[in-house]
Amino acid sequence: MTFVGEYKPGLEGVPATLSSISYVDGQKGILEYRGIRVEELAQKSSFLEVAYLLIWGKLPTQEEIDSFEHDIRYHRRIKYRIRDMMKCFPETGHPMDALQTSAAALGLFYSRRALDNPQYIGEAVVRLLAKIPTMVAAFKLMRKGNDAVQPRDDLDYSANFLYMLNEREPHPLAAKVFDVCLMLHAEHTINASTFSAMVTASTLTDPYAVVASAVGTLAGPLHGGANEEVLFMLEDIGSVENVRPYLDGLLERKAKIMGFGHRVYKVKDPRATILQKLAEELFEQFGHDKYYEIAVELEAAVQDKLGHKGIYPNVDFYSGLVYRKLGIPTDLFTPIFAIARVAGWLAHWKEQLGKNRIYRPTQIYTGSHGEPYIPIDERAVPLGDPLEQEGN
Ligand code: ACO
Repeated sequence: MTFVGEYKPGLEGVPATLSSISYVDGQKGILEYRGIRVEELAQKSSFLEVAYLLIWGKLPTQEEIDSFEHDIRYHRRIKYRIRDMMKCFPETGHPMDALQTSAAALGLFYSRRALDNPQYIGEAVVRLLAKIPTMVAAFKLMRKGNDAVQPRDDLDYSANFLYMLNEREPHPLAAKVFDVCLMLHAEHTINASTFSAMVTASTLTDPYAVVASAVGTLAGPLHGGANEEVLFMLEDIGSVENVRPYLDGLLERKAKIMGFGHRVYKVKDPRATILQKLAEELFEQFGHDKYYEIAVELEAAVQDKLGHKGIYPNVDFYSGLVYRKLGIPTDLFTPIFAIARVAGWLAHWKEQLGKNRIYRPTQIYTGSHGEPYIPIDERAVPLGDPLEQEGN
């Protein structure tokens, strides 16, 4: 019995769940959260309202959002034991690794796995949304040997994060733009990190482990890590004149162009369009960035060479330029993606709990059978790296 014809590498196009959280039309460039277009939310809503919408399935009333925001403000602080643990992290460690460890550590304090208790679910949602930004900002300061800045209760979610990060109150436009960035990154159907969250959730482990496993998955350069790589690439290109020769070099080497291409979108990612506009607003207010012109030229050049394959900018292409203008260090771009995506991961966690069956797909075995066991002193010494031997 063989299923080889049914096997899809990367599970491309294979439905893995039924979900009512978000919708993507990759041909038309449409993204909706709970049926509402992301463009409309970016214009009219706030990150916490979007998080509420994703997790609880409806837009909140005034009373509901007031109470949600109040609870999140109240839970922003992290325990001194967690801060002490973070102080011991190596300063050269990547902030995504720091975040994964710290998020998992929350489970030591708050995990009861009371997954049938709505109060436990609500508190876990609030704690994770409240504390992840504090952890990201804390590591940024601690790795330089400084103390973390305590959250400010008079500032809203995004303004408070930028305040903790940069140790000064942000300009209102900066806080607004950052809040829109969080909304745009909050959810995106079953991408790799969300799938990872769902698989972890399906074992009925605690929500802190769910988020920690998703953070680890988001960190890779083919997923959330691409936004850092985009800035390195733009710096490497260096000038508008060098864009096309540089691109030709990448294509000759069959290298991927970071910030381009998407498993689902075959047109420009709608989030990239909004982020590009936000970048322009920021440059108008706070000054020009020469890498923006390089980015625009690169988009045109990639469209000329790869547009026919449906390779267009994805969400990561312009986000780095926005974050840099907000004074955010490059290696915090992916942790910021995680701050936003916690909303989506928690929405999928909750949805998973509502209809749980543990994920346990199958495989197609390609190895041999009935091999003899060879005593160790009779085994041939393998040549080269054993990890590169067939079967590893
Ligand atoms: N640059 C050049 N060519 C590309 C790119 C790219 N960025 N993306 C896809 N292609 C080409 C591939 O070479 C391949 O061409 P071929 O059919 O001639 O062999 C074809 O398009 C299909 O590519 P796959 O890698 O099979 O597409 P897949 O759906 O598996 O990958 C992915 C999607 C991982 C996002 C890919 O486009 C990529 O690696 N992009 C660069 C990294 C990046 O920006 N990641 C962020 C994605 S958004 C997010 O995770 C938040």
